[in-house]
Amino acid sequence: MPQNFDVLVIGAGPGGYVAAIRAAQLGFKVACVDEFKNPAGQPSLGGTCLNVGCIPSKALLESSENFARAAHGFAAHGIAVDGLRFDAGQMQARKNEIVTKLTQGIAFLFKKNKITSLHGHGRMLGREGEVWQVEVNCDEAREVAAARHVILATGSKPRMLPGVEIDNVRVLDNAGALALDAVPARLGVIGAGVIGLELGSVWRRLGAEVTLLEAMPAFLPAADQAVAREALRLFTRDHGLKIQTGVEIQSVKAGQEEVIVHWKSAKDGEQTATFDKLLVCVGRAPNVEGLLADGVALQRDERGFVVVDETGRTSLPDVWAIGDVTPGPMLAHRASEEGVAVAERIAGQKPHVDFSCIPWVMYTSPEIAWVGKTEQQLQAEGVDYKKGQFPFAANGRALALGESAGFVKMLACAKTDRILGVHAIGPMASELIAEAVVAMEFKASSEDIARIVHAHPSLSEALHEAALGCDKRGLHS
Ligand code: FAD
Ligand code: NAI
Repeated sequence: MPQNFDVLVIGAGPGGYVAAIRAAQLGFKVACVDEFKNPAGQPSLGGTCLNVGCIPSKALLESSENFARAAHGFAAHGIAVDGLRFDAGQMQARKNEIVTKLTQGIAFLFKKNKITSLHGHGRMLGREGEVWQVEVNCDEAREVAAARHVILATGSKPRMLPGVEIDNVRVLDNAGALALDAVPARLGVIGAGVIGLELGSVWRRLGAEVTLLEAMPAFLPAADQAVAREALRLFTRDHGLKIQTGVEIQSVKAGQEEVIVHWKSAKDGEQTATFDKLLVCVGRAPNVEGLLADGVALQRDERGFVVVDETGRTSLPDVWAIGDVTPGPMLAHRASEEGVAVAERIAGQKPHVDFSCIPWVMYTSPEIAWVGKTEQQLQAEGVDYKKGQFPFAANGRALALGESAGFVKMLACAKTDRILGVHAIGPMASELIAEAVVAMEFKASSEDIARIVHAHPSLSEALHEAALGCDKRGLHS
């Protein structure tokens, strides 16, 4: 007899585990199926985000940033460090501890909320009456669970480049690049997107020579172009990343000791580069392998993502999908909010997720964060806008921190003054953007932010000044 549930979630990443918790809070009998195993072969909840994504990358970014500060930033404070060195093994151990703490925390939350955690690969077998049958396969064991509602939260996996094999020894994906226990002298990175820049920064700060090979002619095309230009300047000039854009990869040949990449570009012609390790991060693809038995006709788009309506409903009755497996930004917080909303909809509530106010953050140095429209989007849409921009170089707190590169830019409607976008590159941009998200969610005007008292000295004064700048009444610029 199958175990029966009201709601069965497939995938325990930030979409799935949050959906399971919210559904349990709403009184449903919930199970969550997840197949992820950590390198020790143990089940580990939390999906990509906790195991091989957001959390381990931020742990290593922090460790490497601390090293870089001690190596290059402390002297200006009059602090001399002799014999500075780092232990990559200890950095990895610290990262692993954080991951273990958080993944075990989810196991605890599942117990607390009486969620049945099923380890194994979930596969939708079909619907009997109004109840979906889901097979869970773990090694040799097989069981079937039944539930009225199924939430697909199977996430994503690295997109492959044709003819390039990831062995996580010489040619790495995100998991491999997060697990290196020694710094490669020459790290090549194919794809100068978010993963390439974050993980490239980690290993650059620890001494690797890092070369990013990017297909697009423009750098960070999704970001506001003023931010992208500043980022390119700072990453290459101050942080030593080598970034080639407009690159076409011709071949990748992995040997015992090195990887040879042939590429060409309109600017540089045919090129050959030799690396000790190569990270391939050219986007991610939806995880749907083995998810559907024959005859389960779930609609997917041309790239394989599960098609959903604005409420998270798929083409199948009582089957919902959230997070990376669906089209949209591949962000943990998007997945989680969709998880909450779907659980509440199953309970008959009418939740709302405002997709126009999702913050984007890149944890590079300096950090980049934005919410809302870029200046280029507003121009393309013919929106009449005004802007205010304030440099961290004129912000007392940023100078005290020794991190005065970058700026905050606010875009507001010329007619109504409503804030349409906020873009920051600089210290703690990841935290600063929260104020902008709240403001935009509450449909604030630049005048609203300009009239709010901001603590002095604080980085948030840069946002305040950008708001004042929308009305050409900046006080410190
Ligand atoms: P996932 O987290 O991918 O979880 C899906 C889970 O489902 C996995 O455990 C998978 O094993 C399991 N699964 C898949 N198929 C099955 C099946 N058939 N049966 C059972 N289990 C299955 N986002 C941010 O917002 N901030 C960041 O700082 C950030 N940093 C990142 C850094 C890196 C290196 C990477 C790779 C990603 C990062 N992301 C970040 C993106 C973020 O990790 C994803 O957007 C997020 O994890 C998506 O959540 P999800 O729940 O949809 O899927
Ligand atoms: P990405 O989409 O950010 O970047 C991939 C890059 O590879 C793009 O610039 C693309 O033009 C380039 N590319 C594609 N094919 C190429 C080729 N053949 N040769 C050279 N370059 C090529 O994807 P990435 O970095 O793999 O990350 C996946 C997703 O994970 C991101 O889109 C993001 O949503 C999420 N993520 C979020 C983070 C955050 O929020 N801080 C951190 C890391 C990842």
